[in-house]
Amino acid sequence: MIPIEHKRSGTTFQVNAFWLRDHCRCSSCYNLETKQRKYNLLDIPSTMRPISTEYNHNELQLEVEWSDGHKSVYDIDHLNHAQVENVVTRIQQSTTRTLWNQATITANEIDLRTTLAELVSSDEAAHKIMQSLIRYGIAFVDGVPANTTMTEMTVRRLFPPMRTFFGEMYTFTDSPDHADTAYTKQYLGFHTDNTYFCNAAGLQILHCIRHVNGVGGENFFADGFYAANELKQSNPRAYEILTRVPVPAEYIEEGQYHKYSAPIIRVDPVSSELVQVRLNIYDRAMFDTIPQTEMEDFYTSLREYLKIVQRLDNEWKFKLHPGTVIFFDNWRVYHGRCAYTGERTMTGCYVERVDFLSKARVMGIIG
Ligand SMILES: [Fe+2]
Ligand SMILES: [Zn+2]
Repeated sequence: MIPIEHKRSGTTFQVNAFWLRDHCRCSSCYNLETKQRKYNLLDIPSTMRPISTEYNHNELQLEVEWSDGHKSVYDIDHLNHAQVENVVTRIQQSTTRTLWNQATITANEIDLRTTLAELVSSDEAAHKIMQSLIRYGIAFVDGVPANTTMTEMTVRRLFPPMRTFFGEMYTFTDSPDHADTAYTKQYLGFHTDNTYFCNAAGLQILHCIRHVNGVGGENFFADGFYAANELKQSNPRAYEILTRVPVPAEYIEEGQYHKYSAPIIRVDPVSSELVQVRLNIYDRAMFDTIPQTEMEDFYTSLREYLKIVQRLDNEWKFKLHPGTVIFFDNWRVYHGRCAYTGERTMTGCYVERVDFLSKARVMGIIG
C-alpha cells in the first residue's frame, strides 16, 4: 500500500500500488478524450513498485517513478475522489430521486408535465422530462396528436425506441396480436414489463389513442422504490430475501421463448442503493431456485412487499386520454390497468435502459 497525503482535507489515504499504476493518465497509457486505457493489463508486472514519489504544484499533484522506469503524474483530488468510501457517500447523498406515494406525486404533478410544442422547440422541456424521469420515474407530454407516428416522433426527440419481438412502436387493442395478458380487456395488477428478458426495457411509453363505446381502463402506478424502502424499514429480513432470491420468469408464444431469473429487488453491490425492481406475478415460471424449506420465508416476504405496493395510499390512478403520452421507468415504477369495455387502442414503445441513462448523463442529471 502507498500512503497519499490529501492536502485539501488534511487526511492521508492508502492505495494499492498496482491500482495506482493501472490508473496512470499519461498519454501512452490513457486516451483522455474517450477515457479508454491503451495497454494490456498483463503487460504491467504484478511486482510493479514505486521507486520514488514526489508532491508538486502545492501538493495537489503526485509524481511517481515506477520500477520499470515508467513515470506517472496524478491529480491527488482525483485519486481521493475514487476511494470507495467517497464514492458510496456521494451516491448516498445524491438527491436526484424523490420516492413517492400518492400524496407526494400528486403534489408534484406540475413538475412532470410538458407539451409537445415545448418539447419540439426547447431543450429545457427535454431536460424537464429527463429530470422528472430520474427524480420520480414518470413524465407526461401533452398535446400529442393521437396516432402512432406523432407518438414515435415525441419519443425520438429524446431516445430511439427499443426493438423487441413486439416491434419498435407497438399498437395494441384487445385483438390478440400477441398472447400477452396486456393484449386483453381484463384487469391487470401492478407489474413491470419484460421480467423474462435479461435486459428489461428501461422506460415504457404509452399513449391511449382511442377509447370509444365503453368505460374503464384507468391506469395505476406505484413507486416500487418507495415500497422497497418501506419494506426495508419495516421488515429488513423480508427485504434481504427479496434482494437475494432469483425469481424465474418466462414468456412463450409462437416462435418466441424468453426466460430469465433475477431477484425482485436489485441493489447496487457497492452502495446498496436500489437499482431495479422486477416484478410480474403473471409471468413467473416454475419457481425452482431455492429449496422447499425456504419457500415459506420467501412467500411471506413477497406478500409483505406486495401489501405495501398495493396499499391505496401508494397508488396513483388516472385515465390516460388521447393526446397525453406517458413515459415511465420500467425499472422502478409498477403499472397496472383496470378492466375496460368498448374499443381501445394503445400505442407506445420501450426504451433501452442504456439509452435512457446515457441521455441523463449527457444532460448532467446523473453522474
Ligand atoms: Fe405492462
Ligand atoms: Zn502511463
